[in-house]
Amino acid sequence: MNVVVTGASKGIGKAVSEIFAANGHNLFLSSRGEVALYKTLEELLNKYPEVTIKAKPFDLSIKEQAKKFGVWCLEAGAPGILVNNAGLFEPGSVYNEPEGVLESQLAVNLHSAYHLTRTLLPSMMKKGSGHIFNLCSIASLDAYKNGGAYSISKFAMYGFSKNLREEMKPHGIKVTHVIPGAAYTDSWSSSNIDPKRIMEANDIAKMIFAASQLSLQACVEELVMRPQLGDL
Ligand SMILES: NC(=O)c1ccc[n+]([C@@H]2O[C@H](COP(=O)([O-])OP(=O)(O)OC[C@H]3O[C@@H](n4cnc5c(N)ncnc54)[C@H](OP(=O)(O)O)[C@@H]3O)[C@@H](O)[C@H]2O)c1
Repeated sequence: MNVVVTGASKGIGKAVSEIFAANGHNLFLSSRGEVALYKTLEELLNKYPEVTIKAKPFDLSIKEQAKKFGVWCLEAGAPGILVNNAGLFEPGSVYNEPEGVLESQLAVNLHSAYHLTRTLLPSMMKKGSGHIFNLCSIASLDAYKNGGAYSISKFAMYGFSKNLREEMKPHGIKVTHVIPGAAYTDSWSSSNIDPKRIMEANDIAKMIFAASQLSLQACVEELVMRPQLGDL
């Protein structure tokens, strides 16, 4: 099966890519920075030489680039799985975050997924099967201090995902809202947090993979995951 993963160069996206490659699936990967993306590509190709893995850098927060990535993926046919994972965490509060943060957070955390999904959907709908995972967040469910534009964008991503789930029911395409709490990735590396206090990127990847393994008639709608000790 062809699996498309955005934000695949590191963190949760890289862990998701690896678990699908390890299980024999072909990968179509993207992220913004090409150095980290090609390093991940090389690492995965060395570990899993039996699968096809392709990667191309795009800034998915730009509509035209998100569409171009989709068109590039479609050269190999309709994907079986799409993981809308690319995202950025900018902490802040509505009252004092810099001008433009709302727009940039919405562009990377919501618009990227919206435009890529719209590019891929016609082929997936024609095929009548597929599974779309949308990386939301605990910040999609509850407001918290210093959430600001990030939290707003993640509420919006959850709204996008819920709408898509309803729309895709008759088309044989599953939609799962992935709702993790804190998981240790690069976005936490500058904090002082003990990696053992929060989840591993691989915890999220394992649940996404497991959800992709059910019968055609079963859909995991939400994956809510938190650190054992709860949110920070
Ligand atoms: N880690 C957590 O605690 C946590 C919790 C809840 C939800 N999430 C969500 O899970 C997803 C992954 O998070 P993570 O912690 O793994 O993040 P991460 O380690 O910072 O990795 C983010 C990935 O997205 C890519 N990316 C960022 N902006 C992009 C853009 N404009 N175009 C294309 N690619 C872009 C990055 O590549 P470049 O750096 O090259 O741009 C990177 O590959 C995000 O949507 C995040 O909001 C994470």
